[in-house]
Amino acid sequence: MIPTPDWPALRAAAVAAAERAYAPYSGLRVGAAGQAADGRIVTGCNVENASYGLTLCAECGLVSALHASGSPAPGPGPLVAVATVAGDGKPLLPCGRCRQLLLEAGGSHLLVDTAEGPVELSALLPAAFGPADLESRRDA
Ligand code: THU
Repeated sequence: MIPTPDWPALRAAAVAAAERAYAPYSGLRVGAAGQAADGRIVTGCNVENASYGLTLCAECGLVSALHASGSPAPGPGPLVAVATVAGDGKPLLPCGRCRQLLLEAGGSHLLVDTAEGPVELSALLPAAFGPADLESRRDA
C-alpha cells in the first residue's frame, strides 16, 4: 500500500539536509527529502564545485540516495512525495532539470511540496518528455 506522505517528517528532514549542504559559491543551501513507496525517507543536499557547472542540486542527491538505498517499488516510480527547502527552511521549487529527474523517479503524480502546499509534479512539469516517448519514437 502506498503510504500517506508524512509532510512534517519530510520537511524536517529537508531542513536537516540543507544544513549539510556545500554551497560556498552561491550561498544558497538546499535540502531535499523524499518518501518512497515503501515508506523510507531519503535526502539530498546541494554540492557545489569551483567549476561551477558541476554543481549537484539537492534533488540529484536525493534521487541517487533513493536508488542506492533500496530496490524500486512496483508502479510508476518508487518516490511518492518530495519536500525541498532552502537554508531559510522555506519551500524551494525544484529547478527544471530536477523536475525532469523527479519525473523519472516518481512519475507525474509525485507530490511536491510548495509554499501553498503539495501539488502533483504534472502541475510543475506539464506536457513532459518521459520514458514512454523513447519507447514510441525511437527508430524501429
Ligand atoms: N539548487 C538546488 O539544489 N536545487 C534546485 O532545484 C535549484 C537550485 C542549488 C544549486 C546551487 O547550488 C544553488 O541552488 C544555486 O543555484
